[in-house]
Amino acid sequence: MSNERSGFSSRIGFVLATAGSAVGLGNIWRFPYLAAKYGGGSFLLVYLILTVTFGFTLMITEVALGRKSGTSAINAFGYFNKKYSFIGYLTSFIPFIIFPYYCVIGGWVTKFLLVSIKGQTHAAASDTFFTGFISQLAEPMICLLVFLAITTAVVILGVKGGIERVSTFMMPILVLLLVGISLFCITRPGAMEGVAYYLKPSIKHLGPTTFLAALGQLFYSMSLAMGIMITFGSYMPKKSDLEKSVSQVEIFDTGIAFLAGLMIVPSVFVFSNGDPSMLAKGPSLMFVMLPKVFDSMAFGNILAAVFFILVFFAALTSAISLLETLVAVIMDKFHIKRVTACILMFIIACLMAIPSSFGFGIWSHITIMGFSFLDFFDFLSNSVLMPIAAFLTCIFVAYIIKPDVIINEVESSGEFKRKPLFLVMIKYLAPICIIAILVFSIMEGLGLITV
Ligand code: TRP
Repeated sequence: MSNERSGFSSRIGFVLATAGSAVGLGNIWRFPYLAAKYGGGSFLLVYLILTVTFGFTLMITEVALGRKSGTSAINAFGYFNKKYSFIGYLTSFIPFIIFPYYCVIGGWVTKFLLVSIKGQTHAAASDTFFTGFISQLAEPMICLLVFLAITTAVVILGVKGGIERVSTFMMPILVLLLVGISLFCITRPGAMEGVAYYLKPSIKHLGPTTFLAALGQLFYSMSLAMGIMITFGSYMPKKSDLEKSVSQVEIFDTGIAFLAGLMIVPSVFVFSNGDPSMLAKGPSLMFVMLPKVFDSMAFGNILAAVFFILVFFAALTSAISLLETLVAVIMDKFHIKRVTACILMFIIACLMAIPSSFGFGIWSHITIMGFSFLDFFDFLSNSVLMPIAAFLTCIFVAYIIKPDVIINEVESSGEFKRKPLFLVMIKYLAPICIIAILVFSIMEGLGLITV
């Protein structure tokens, strides 16, 4: 009784669109600063292990749920069992928290795009440039509005297909550029220490917070635990090989994150002597380090402009996909027109983005549980709500509808080579580990344990 939805005409279409939504600021902005903060190699190792276990399992589960039910997250859980439709509501709620602060960072990228187009990379390389910019009142808000307005306009005008086509041919250029820039960075004097930091795990950094940070990053980067992959799955052709598609998206997403880390983490050692406070810098790391990298390059201005155009598009495709989901949820639930839903989301996102943006300036003295506003929204969505949503999804599939539903869906269009891994993960390892990671890090956060 599964109802085929019109959607991607080919498997490659699905892979490209899914990769376009997955590859974004998560890979280029968020992954490197977390890797720098949580011990480099230790974070990388944990992240890679989680990707091939948790990441694979959850992604194939979500895509299969979507393709089987032929509907988006908010209805997919209810499609299988009415009592559990609340999981759909929870997963659909998470992008409401992410989208506004995603646009704040999108605004920062917009600013750097303009700076590099104007050839001001040298000025941007100074230590105070970025802090000076984000602590202002108006400018970051204007940049945010520009980014948000472009995203909303694309969704209202329905020209998403065009943007996706542009971004598809930009992706390979982004990969090439990332390879080139990271090669440049790791061949600078002093970079080897940074490369060793990025690649070599150390026991002392392998605590629960590293696991939680890596888990949250995995969900964020692969757009998991938010219902998006369910929606993408619902558009996937019934005949396409599910496992192969999921593996390709996973490899692509992780590869880009790895390269971005290789570009940014060693540059902390080249330009700031591996200063621990710089490594722990958090959300501003990329914006502080990259101008220094470009400033030290021949043709740095041009490369910076090309690079930020590519990052801008990567961020835009992800923001569009986030907004599309939100608009679909609002339209479904409140039965309003698409344009009205878009405008409503524009206003909500503006209002919610204000604290995240002001938190670096006039509201920097206000903290929630020790976090600035942006970090708080980030923590709440990635480290609390997404693990809970992922946990519930596992329990739902393993013990309510049973894993056979997923296995049959995957096997209806190809082989399921990693079925044994999937079964162990979804039934035991994933739910137990997610809860353990959550509990330990909450206890650590409250100072009940020290690691
Ligand atoms: N994965 C995206 C990135 O790496 C961010 C993101 C999270 C996202 N959830 C999403 C994008 C949902 C689109 C839809 O930047």
